[in-house]
Amino acid sequence: MSFTVAIDGPAAAGKGTISKAVAQRFGFAHLDTGLLYRAVGARVAEGEEPVAAAQSLNTKDLARQDLRTQAVADAASNVATNQQVREALVEFQRDFAAKEGGAVLDGRDIGTVICPDADVKLFVTARAEVRAKRRWEELCSAGGDADYDTVLAEVKARDTRDEGRKDAPMRRADDAVLLDTSDLTIEEAIARAVAAIEQARGQGAG
Ligand code: DC
Repeated sequence: MSFTVAIDGPAAAGKGTISKAVAQRFGFAHLDTGLLYRAVGARVAEGEEPVAAAQSLNTKDLARQDLRTQAVADAASNVATNQQVREALVEFQRDFAAKEGGAVLDGRDIGTVICPDADVKLFVTARAEVRAKRRWEELCSAGGDADYDTVLAEVKARDTRDEGRKDAPMRRADDAVLLDTSDLTIEEAIARAVAAIEQARGQGAG
């Protein structure tokens, strides 16, 4: 039986951590859909045409080691505004969502466009300043000498682009549970996501 959990929200709100944790907890497969856009962005940065790159994306692209850099994040956010790129990635995501045994997909448009009928939808967010601080701390602990104000500006610029694009903008689905992690620990945020999924599973069984 399939059971789809759609988790959307902006960068550094905690959706990746929450998605991994709930996938492990319930034994669901997990797809970080941002990686698809990052892999396309990385190939475009190397000179490829965006739509051709999206149409020929393969699992090797998703295993690239350079997908987490800021340059690739920006390239991803840019290719994500291209409607044909988005269309080329729909089928892969929907097939993944229909996996036997359940699936968690995290991204920006999972609950609104990719899986509008998902069994559970969460919109995970946090204040831009909190997200920038988390990202800044990550960069610093990885040995970089990041500047907080620059990180905050990047976070806000990416939000504006992701929310403002014409095709499949980042937005909370009407039936998504809002999870603001600004003042929550990781454990508290995961517990709330688990509770929402358990409630939906209970309703499904009853
Ligand atoms: O979640 P992330 O930071 O890895 O995503 C990188 C970019 O990809 C993000 O700026 C917007 C885009 N994206 C998207 O448009 N739709 C998704 N479902 C996932 C990511």
